[in-house]
Amino acid sequence: MSFDRDLISAQADDNDLQIEAALRPKSLGEFIGQSRVREQLSLVLQGALKRGKAPDHVLMSGSPGLGKTTLAMIIAYELGAPLRITSGPALERAGDLAAILSTLAEGEVLFIDEIHRMARPAEEMLYLAMEDFRVDIVVGKGPGATAIPLEIAPFTLVGATTRAGLLPAPLRDRFGFTAHMDFYEVDELERVLARSSRLLGVDLPADGAHEIARRSRGTPRIANRLLRRVRDFAEVRADGLITRDLAAAALNLYEVDAEGLDRLDRAVLGALLRKFGGGPVGLSTLAVAVGEEPETVEVVAEPFLVRQGLVARTPRGRVATAGAWLHLGMTPPPDVFGAAHPDSDG
Ligand SMILES: Nc1ncnc2c1ncn2[C@@H]1O[C@H](COP(=O)(O)OP(=O)(O)OP(=O)(O)O)[C@@H](O)[C@H]1O
Ligand SMILES: [Mg+2]
Repeated sequence: MSFDRDLISAQADDNDLQIEAALRPKSLGEFIGQSRVREQLSLVLQGALKRGKAPDHVLMSGSPGLGKTTLAMIIAYELGAPLRITSGPALERAGDLAAILSTLAEGEVLFIDEIHRMARPAEEMLYLAMEDFRVDIVVGKGPGATAIPLEIAPFTLVGATTRAGLLPAPLRDRFGFTAHMDFYEVDELERVLARSSRLLGVDLPADGAHEIARRSRGTPRIANRLLRRVRDFAEVRADGLITRDLAAAALNLYEVDAEGLDRLDRAVLGALLRKFGGGPVGLSTLAVAVGEEPETVEVVAEPFLVRQGLVARTPRGRVATAGAWLHLGMTPPPDVFGAAHPDSDG
């Protein structure tokens, strides 16, 4: 069994991709939130522009829907440079990468999405390209094979990954700047929603925006998607005005709860509490219990549950906190992880 993730998944579907193109901020100035990343990146880009050289390679890591692709496009825009887009899974053989690298223009920005999923030979070719702007094209096979060095134009690599931990150290070390994208604060998502509602021509009062923002799992992609669903609800069931109560009713209908947890989040929490007594339990066991891939649980559900203080990762496995029991309306056992020590409050 697999969950219908269409509505509340942080991952994008086709419909999202179209609308996202329209809602994507184009410049660093339009990019909301992530203030530290924005400031650091702005310095990297301005420095490079001043020197008239391609900036350091940039790695962006963070959960789905936080703005990695958006920032990659912004980097090219701010540099006034052309952008080439590919992804790790598309680079199966070294030749796939060589074909791209050898045709890059000077200063071009090469965006490799899901860079942790690149095949090994391509990865090794990339090391040399990043460092020396050179690739070795191997001609022939066996003892007679020779490597022909090929110069490539200085370029800037922008890599994005939802799983920075999977990147081999030699690759990670070759990025001059790493941007860690974190979940957004509610007030930042309110600004994302205000901007999107303006672009979509939706009338969104502040209290309605607040209700959608706090249920958006800290993720702009989800905020934009929920905005469209709430708009439908407002137009069909009411007079179009998105009040706080209306937003809450619409999102309850779509099974997004008051803390923004979706069905998968609640299934993971529910299994952790009901089947494993709150843990500790290993990731793969937990994934089997909810009928999902371990990677989905680890990349999609867990980071947000951890960030909300509902789940903790310990060396022995995943553990529910007192907050998790309370969130599902259950009584935490006395020795629950994270609860005040019995003799610490008297
Ligand atoms: N800082 C931001 N300000 C305004 N809108 C944003 C911001 N970040 C993301 N968005 C919106 O969220 C959508 C999703 O962002 P994006 O595609 O960049 O996420 P991503 O991190 O690349 O996700 P994935 O891991 O799935 O590739 C964008 O189309 C944009 O509309
Ligand atoms: Mg992306």
